[in-house]
Amino acid sequence: MTTADTLAAAAAATEAAPRERGATVWLTGLPSAGKTTLAFALAEKLRAEGHKVEVLDGDEIREFLSKGLGFTEEDRHTNVTRIGFVAEKLARNGVKVLAPVIAPYARSRAAVRARHAEQGAEFIEVHVATPVELCSERDVKGLYAKQAAGEISGLTGVDDPYEAPESPELRLQTQGRSVTESAAELHAFLSERGLA
Ligand SMILES: Nc1ncnc2c1ncn2[C@@H]1O[C@H](COP(=O)(O)OP(=O)(O)OP(=O)(O)O)[C@@H](O)[C@H]1O
Ligand SMILES: [Mg+2]
Repeated sequence: MTTADTLAAAAAATEAAPRERGATVWLTGLPSAGKTTLAFALAEKLRAEGHKVEVLDGDEIREFLSKGLGFTEEDRHTNVTRIGFVAEKLARNGVKVLAPVIAPYARSRAAVRARHAEQGAEFIEVHVATPVELCSERDVKGLYAKQAAGEISGLTGVDDPYEAPESPELRLQTQGRSVTESAAELHAFLSERGLA
């Protein structure tokens, strides 16, 4: 075989290699619903299977990409559309993007969905549908207690809006289920769609 033949064969093999299918999996839900926990559990499973995965966690994004933004309706919308912009860029390049971000407004989620559709990237909305009563018991960051004590206001689902998705691709119940069970349910859903 000549060098040219070898290069041509290598190029053909590269072309024939199956492309990894990217997608954005957005986990929306109330504070303490289980979004971050499930995103990291799912990320671990997907990575073990050899997928390229990025987690764009709401809290981390607010320290960097969205530093300076607050919690008004407009700032929350901007935060979500920025995350959606980055997610779409990664998703169209074969990355499974997991976005555990409250995203309280339907219009923000719709904007992210529309952008993905325009760019031909897959968008999967998962509603982590833990009831507010259970979220406030879990109260991982102590926000529900602070709101109840009058120390803070504007807590999503309590004294700030949360517009639950009407027709998400998946609605996950976490009450009465372990993290492992909920993560398995989410993973099974992605498998059905040929993404895991
Ligand atoms: N089935 C379940 N799925 C997910 N989390 C669960 C489940 N059962 C119990 N939990 C617990 O609920 C808590 C969820 O906290 P987590 O930080 O994931 O919430 P979050 O939705 O990311 O909240 P925030 O919007 O404030 O970041 C964790 O302590 C987790 O262990
Ligand atoms: Mg979180």
